[in-house]
Amino acid sequence: MAMEMWKYILALIIVNSVATERIKDMIYMPLEGVAACFRRHNGTHQFGCSSSRSGSVGVVHLIEVDNDITWIERNATAGPYTVVLPFEMFTRNTLVRLRNTDNINGVLLTKNTSHERPSKYSPEDKCPNRYSGYKKCNDMKPWNPFGSALLMEDWPFPMFYTQNQTALEAIRSCFQTHNAHDLETQYQRSLCAIEMKSFMYAAVNSESCIKRTDFKLNFNPTQFCDPLGDRNIHWPLAPLDENNNTVIMVTARLDASSLFDGISPGAGNVVTGLVTLLATAYYLNHLNATVDSTCQSSLPNCYKNRVSTQIL
Ligand SMILES: *[C@@H]1O[C@H](CO)[C@@H](O)[C@H](O)[C@H]1NC(C)=O
Ligand SMILES: *[C@@H]1O[C@H](CO)[C@@H](O)[C@H](O)[C@H]1NC(C)=O
Ligand SMILES: *[C@@H]1O[C@H](CO)[C@@H](O)[C@H](O)[C@H]1NC(C)=O
Ligand SMILES: *[C@@H]1O[C@H](CO)[C@@H](O)[C@H](O)[C@H]1NC(C)=O
Ligand SMILES: *[C@@H]1O[C@H](CO)[C@@H](O)[C@H](O)[C@H]1NC(C)=O
Ligand SMILES: *[C@@H]1O[C@H](CO)[C@@H](O)[C@H](O)[C@H]1NC(C)=O
Repeated sequence: MAMEMWKYILALIIVNSVATERIKDMIYMPLEGVAACFRRHNGTHQFGCSSSRSGSVGVVHLIEVDNDITWIERNATAGPYTVVLPFEMFTRNTLVRLRNTDNINGVLLTKNTSHERPSKYSPEDKCPNRYSGYKKCNDMKPWNPFGSALLMEDWPFPMFYTQNQTALEAIRSCFQTHNAHDLETQYQRSLCAIEMKSFMYAAVNSESCIKRTDFKLNFNPTQFCDPLGDRNIHWPLAPLDENNNTVIMVTARLDASSLFDGISPGAGNVVTGLVTLLATAYYLNHLNATVDSTCQSSLPNCYKNRVSTQIL
């Protein structure tokens, strides 16, 4: 289940680390062209991220090499931090290390558009649809070996993604001016910080989230969750006879899952499904397949078996 009713904001601010709460004393610069990681649920668990209700503020720290993470783990004094991660370092290992510091209020994933795209990246499980798939997946030989399962994890901090180079330059120069020098004395001075606001109302699991949307008492209910998914629309040229199953529907997926709202690099691989679908249609036609009318039991399965034996 995904949360619909939210707006998100990412802002660059200068905060006095001694009194982080005095928002009126902060100098803001809104950052545009960003995508937020959102909250999702399956039946029993929650995944994804959310900021705190009023927004999560963290001192900017640019992470470029492994030592920068070690610095956050061991030497940081002015936390909580918002780390700015380049795409190359956006791995499960990095995120888990950051989470374990308990000193992180946000992660800004950035992509420098003049750098190459990574050769492999998948936030999905190594075995997508592990709990609902029809086919069992072999953990030793998974079909998505590069999957990091970042999507299947509940992160205690908000995450945003941006590839707006103007914004990135601004963050980098703010970091270098205010934060990067004298790292040990950071806690004594005003620092450059990032505020992330992407509060998700959904919590716990799908069931409790749907229950909170009380349709019975309210004509205009507040909606807390939306089912993650969509509808397939098909329209036959002639009326379909439900007792005469002469139509077999073979479909292909058209969307992709993603950690960040509106950013789905995986959507390119929809082509794989469509090409397979076209090849199957071509091949079935080529086989001059005849559907066996003696097949009387539960029909959909019956036809599926018949067609698959013909393909084999
Ligand atoms: C990039 O960021 C700048 C400054 O925040 C903003 O003016 C500009 O509209 C953004 N560009 C895009 C494509 O969002
Ligand atoms: C939800 O995900 C969790 C963790 O990945 C899993 O243990 C659980 O069985 C899933 N629940 C459902 C209903 O699929
Ligand atoms: C971090 O702190 C340790 C001692 O606590 C020190 O030896 C080390 O040099 C510090 N690292 C940096 C990068 O300041
Ligand atoms: C992107 O990479 C290029 C080349 O490595 C570098 O000159 C530039 O400063 C980077 N941009 C940002 C926003 O970090
Ligand atoms: C099933 O439909 C086909 C094509 O529309 C038709 O030729 C056939 O007679 C129908 N069979 C039955 C049992 O209704
Ligand atoms: C399908 O029928 C066509 C025309 O009747 C024929 O040329 C073709 O060889 C048949 N294909 C197969 C696999 O039987």
